[in-house]
Amino acid sequence: MTRIAIFASGSGSNAEEITRYFSDQATVQIVLILTNNPQAGVIDRSRRGFGCGQHVPVVVFDRAAFRDTDRIIQLLTSLEVDLIVLAGFMWLVPAPLVQAFPGRIINIHPALLPKFGGKGMFGHHVHEAVVAARETESGITIHFVNEHYDEGQIIFQASCPVAPTDTPDDVAAKVHQLEYTHYPRVVGEVLATLPAR
Ligand code: GAR
Repeated sequence: MTRIAIFASGSGSNAEEITRYFSDQATVQIVLILTNNPQAGVIDRSRRGFGCGQHVPVVVFDRAAFRDTDRIIQLLTSLEVDLIVLAGFMWLVPAPLVQAFPGRIINIHPALLPKFGGKGMFGHHVHEAVVAARETESGITIHFVNEHYDEGQIIFQASCPVAPTDTPDDVAAKVHQLEYTHYPRVVGEVLATLPAR
């Protein structure tokens, strides 16, 4: 059995897509959702079983608890988590947590890194910046997580066109579609390459 923990800060639509994707795979289990946001939509989605009968436990933490990485590492280790998936998680992952799971934390960023990445570049801000810069394309980047925002080794990218008339909401919709199409599959591919714990 391969075990995944998902970190999410917001709506949780990617967490839902990933959970649904693996719901009929007996060898993969989403064991925990972790969020820094008590209002996060992902909590409600989990309560509703992500639309596929998967009621994954949710842990909510504040900044102090997140910085107390020993406790988080202990929790993830006790659940025998193989892979940590960031799905719309907006905080920097502390170095001890990165080091406790080398090559086992991945993130999705809603743009074509290295463009439009770094501190403050998350969620809708990214799409606003893409439109303001009059980019003709945007996309997604799936990458391993290191101690810096959006700088880990890139695993996969996919792009979509941005029309001159597109609003940030239009770009967000296109990018979300790319995320749903690719993130669950790429998570599966990363799982397949992980060495045994
Ligand atoms: C997604 O577009 C994801 O790429 C982005 O937040 C959104 C979360 O949507 N992540 C980041 O910006 C991370 N820096 P969701 O909560 O509906 O999955």
